[in-house]
Amino acid sequence: MAQPFVLLPTEDSHQTLQIQPPSTGLGLRGRIRVPGDKSISHRALMLGAIASGETTIEGLLLGEDPLSTAACFRAMGAEISELNSERVRVKGIGLQNLQEPIDVLNAGNSGTTIRLMMGLLAGQRDRFFCVTGDESLRSRPMARVIQPLSQMGAEIRGRQGNTRAPLAISGRSLQPIRYVSPIASAQVKSSILLAGLTCEGQTTVVEPALSRDHSERMFQAFGAKLTVNPEEISVTVEGPAELTGQAVVVPGDISSAAFWLVAGAIVPDSDLLIENVGVNPTRTGILEALQQMEAQITLENERIVAGEPVADLRVRSSNLQAIEIGGSLIPRLIDEVPILAVAAAFAKGTTIIRDAEELRVKESDRIAVMASELGRMGATISERPDGLEITGGAALQGATVDSYTDHRIAMSLAIAALQAKGQTQIQRAEAAAVSYPDFVPTLQQLLG
Ligand code: S3P
Repeated sequence: MAQPFVLLPTEDSHQTLQIQPPSTGLGLRGRIRVPGDKSISHRALMLGAIASGETTIEGLLLGEDPLSTAACFRAMGAEISELNSERVRVKGIGLQNLQEPIDVLNAGNSGTTIRLMMGLLAGQRDRFFCVTGDESLRSRPMARVIQPLSQMGAEIRGRQGNTRAPLAISGRSLQPIRYVSPIASAQVKSSILLAGLTCEGQTTVVEPALSRDHSERMFQAFGAKLTVNPEEISVTVEGPAELTGQAVVVPGDISSAAFWLVAGAIVPDSDLLIENVGVNPTRTGILEALQQMEAQITLENERIVAGEPVADLRVRSSNLQAIEIGGSLIPRLIDEVPILAVAAAFAKGTTIIRDAEELRVKESDRIAVMASELGRMGATISERPDGLEITGGAALQGATVDSYTDHRIAMSLAIAALQAKGQTQIQRAEAAAVSYPDFVPTLQQLLG
């Protein structure tokens, strides 16, 4: 019998994931765990590095993105023990004590690393920093962070009129601001709040819709003075902050669990339990959207772990129905739109996703790439300027598709391939390791 999953190295040092789903008895059953939450992992490393005393991190994501964060902060003097998912120790060096690195800091593929770090570096007086990233990151917009930080007095220069990395940052004393952000972005919000920690007085960020609030929760846990105003959707920090190292426990990443939620819903005869998943309400838009599609998903064993809500998620095979989504739900499921598009390809009716133009500036243009690659597999899918329109029900056929080096695209296409007829080849599939290094072994375990 043909191997259901094979990773084939290619001449240009990428990997192609070949998927040949078994023709019968595919049902996905059993219990699985997903790796640690990416957003929380970055924040735990960063706050640990700038706090006083020791921070311990249980359940850190060992994906390439948090590894980039750890490497950058080590280069600036933070002592971070060997990285593992059991217990990492970070010896903090204080909020204003990051050392000037002797070389360029490399954020790799990680928007969270570069944007959050910029907020911190801007306020490191009399030190100079250069920050860059991979080809994808160097093409992503940085003005959304550079502009508000400049209003605080930051001196940041970059390519293309100070909008793209590589960036040069000359640390300065910053002044607090009240910033009304035009986009609901946790990276923008967190970057300004991190800068706000270093200056004297109150820094406020107002958002058009609530983005993930992991920074707010962790700032409070580390002892920062922070207030949230839900009426105007704003958050205020008071600096200069005194942060103290904490014991952080990172829950499983709901963005990684989303692949299995959709797989369990679209593959017949499935019944999967995904244990220990973070269900922070600013992240559970995907559960609401899938439940609205009539996916059979239940939350079990709901609890609070180190300040974040956690649950086990059970999913069973479902008859999905199309939905229309937009507005304030979008920031609560922004990273899950690619896999939601796969669910929509198996739902009855036409799904419309609006107000999601931010997807065009993620690790790839996720609107264009999902439309083209899912289209290659036979899905009825078209681009809108601000989202996607997908009519479910067309039988998918195995095809050669490309991840465009985007981790979430690689994994979304792999889940679509489970329900496609014949063989699918996903080019540059190694991108999955950015957020989910064990994605392919978990697929193998489920089919084993
Ligand atoms: C993240 C925020 C989101 C998200 C990204 C992680 C974070 O980006 O897409 O994967 O950890 O703050 P934006 O802030 O650009 O929406």
